[in-house]
Amino acid sequence: MIDLKLFKSVADSRNTNDFRAFAKAKLPSPIFHYIDGAADDEVTYRRNTSAYEQCDLIPNVLAGVQEIDTSVEVMGMKIDIPIFCSPTALQRLFHYDGERAVAKAAEKYGTMFGVSSLGTVSLKEIGETISTPKMFQFYYHKDKALNDAMIEMCKEANFDAIALTVDTITGGNRERDLWTGFTTPPKLTWKSLISFALHPSWSLNYLLREKFSLPQLEQHVQKGTNIAVSIGDYFSTMLDQSMDWKDAAEINQKWGKKFCLKGVMSVDDAKRAVDIGAHAIMVSNHGGRQLDGCISPFDQLADIVDAVGDQIDVICDGGIRRGTHVLKALSVGAKACSGGRWYLYALAAGGQPGVEKAISNMKNEIERDMKLMGVTKLDQLSRNNLKFR
Ligand code: LAC
Repeated sequence: MIDLKLFKSVADSRNTNDFRAFAKAKLPSPIFHYIDGAADDEVTYRRNTSAYEQCDLIPNVLAGVQEIDTSVEVMGMKIDIPIFCSPTALQRLFHYDGERAVAKAAEKYGTMFGVSSLGTVSLKEIGETISTPKMFQFYYHKDKALNDAMIEMCKEANFDAIALTVDTITGGNRERDLWTGFTTPPKLTWKSLISFALHPSWSLNYLLREKFSLPQLEQHVQKGTNIAVSIGDYFSTMLDQSMDWKDAAEINQKWGKKFCLKGVMSVDDAKRAVDIGAHAIMVSNHGGRQLDGCISPFDQLADIVDAVGDQIDVICDGGIRRGTHVLKALSVGAKACSGGRWYLYALAAGGQPGVEKAISNMKNEIERDMKLMGVTKLDQLSRNNLKFR
């Protein structure tokens, strides 16, 4: 049967699933499955979203909701909507404008935007392009000179926050990538060739536009910039598996601005994050791409908020597809939410206008859902608004 969703335009894409179908149609399969896939049996990936469905909202009415305020403050920065674009790698593989498109769309809607160590546009350029809050996703490499250089790049480009990734100490088992042979940069194999040929627009853009590169790494790392390598192998060979709390504290101290740990899942670790002076934690399992069987951020949120929510900003990262998911996480006590796939599908589907549409869809949902919940400000949400099944 023909999937009518494949023929939708950006303007017709009303939700994350529409954009997912659109991205699937536009991207060669190794690229699509790299974004869409997760570890092992993808149980955690599915649970990250379905966890929100195990909990129901309890609205209030007659609350006078003509004027509402969708802004929140996270790490001392005000953002106009309570969800931001988590840093994700390799964005120019998904659309030739990559991080440039996402940065401008995030700026337009006044939300934070994250750039990865494995980003495809330089921090300098992003710093010169947008004035809204910017986060850098730090991967702690064996090469200490590279680590120091990345902190300097963040300072020079006037980034606001560093998020140290703590859940990629080794590569996750991403079996879809093993099937498709996904590498960065993409490698032509007999299997992938057919898919590249069937997506000529993506392939021509990739071949004829600006050459693929990883500017944050290229002065220090050859592997991963111009030698095709899987992301799992990159994590396992290039990142420093001896990284510990002392190293995290040292990065925080060298950086000296807002510091966040991305990928904290346990209450004990959340308390340690407070001890080393982090300003925020992103409760995240890397979109289910690392440890399959790991608890979902939403399932773990209440315990973490109860333990540290008054000392550190708790961000709920992952699985979010709808405005109601954001309101549920904020009701539990998250300061803000974040995610990757919700805007990456849209980037692949339509570049900057695609990401703008995805953010505007989410903003419209949040506004409508706040009114239906009877709140004019997001801090009016509480666990009284929720019932867990
Ligand atoms: C990922 C990394 C690069 O593929 O964030 O999940």
